[in-house]
Amino acid sequence: MSMIFKPGDILSKDIRTDKGILLIPHGTRLTVDMVSKLKKFSINEMGIASERPPVGLNPISDHNISAQFTNNDAKLTKIAEKVESVKQIFADNMNPKEIETIAYDTASDIVEEIVELDGETNICINDLRTSDEYTYQHSVDVSILATMLGKNIGLPKKYLSELAQAGLLHDIGKQRIPKEILNKPTRLTDDEIVIMRTHSILGYEIATKMQHISNDVKRAILQHHEKIDGSGYPYAVDPSELGLYERIISIADIYDALTHKRCYKPPLTSVEAFGIMTDELSAFDRNIFVEFFKHITFYPLNSKVILTDGSVWTIVDNKNARLPKVMDEYGRVLDLTTSNLKVYGVYSDAMMAKWQSFHA
Ligand SMILES: [Fe+2]
Repeated sequence: MSMIFKPGDILSKDIRTDKGILLIPHGTRLTVDMVSKLKKFSINEMGIASERPPVGLNPISDHNISAQFTNNDAKLTKIAEKVESVKQIFADNMNPKEIETIAYDTASDIVEEIVELDGETNICINDLRTSDEYTYQHSVDVSILATMLGKNIGLPKKYLSELAQAGLLHDIGKQRIPKEILNKPTRLTDDEIVIMRTHSILGYEIATKMQHISNDVKRAILQHHEKIDGSGYPYAVDPSELGLYERIISIADIYDALTHKRCYKPPLTSVEAFGIMTDELSAFDRNIFVEFFKHITFYPLNSKVILTDGSVWTIVDNKNARLPKVMDEYGRVLDLTTSNLKVYGVYSDAMMAKWQSFHA
């Protein structure tokens, strides 16, 4: 009998292929993406996964199966579990010292895991999401995204710790925003937006009561909605006043918000978020923007894409974030690093109609 899994489940035993290759270690909290990958297998009560071959496709080898669950996947999932402790810092009864202790410890845990990741690491945002509760999950996402960027550009550990803290605490001022505004299931009115925007200053006020958080982190909390072109808030400061942390956090913050599902909007894909943010490029530090998106996975495993010739393929290897390996319905694999074809877009009826309108 095949075991059934759902997002949030914690594995009580390792899941391995029938040849003993470890797919996911026990203790891992399953993400939505992991569950969707596991659906391709029949998994018995011993945790042994047998592939369910799709009709008409060549069987997938053990090598390919294990490539879908890399060591880094498991580590990133472990980090994403930090959402549980971050929930506490938004509780009404938490004082700045208690918040600081949790943020400090959680940031240390996040950095310890991230510095252990193998080489420069691409991020698939869906792998980070273990909770539907936006404010908590968003803080963890931003912390991880910012710290990963810091690692990928070679920042020392001290800076990574502060980046992780700034990510966890950047929206801490929302603790003092009325819940009916914070959790409103529809779009905010103009008056409510004004109130919501006070969270940067409220967060800074909370942070000033913290003893061990550096002034750079406190400034990042205050200035994470400021923009390079001077169009941000609360003070529309000159870019010369923007530190490295807020330059990084502001990009991670907006990317994460765009790709998150909210009651009033569907989640955007990473490609769509990249397009929208590129249109607003003057708002961001250009060098950090480029480094950030260099490591964001545009094409999740098993998603479908349209290539420049209009054919539809499935992503089977996305270690190269922009030039993945794809497989067609006959099981043929194409490596886009050695092909003249490129990804035209993530498959949807609208994207196919767009391709057809340009190739009619
Ligand atoms: Fe914010």
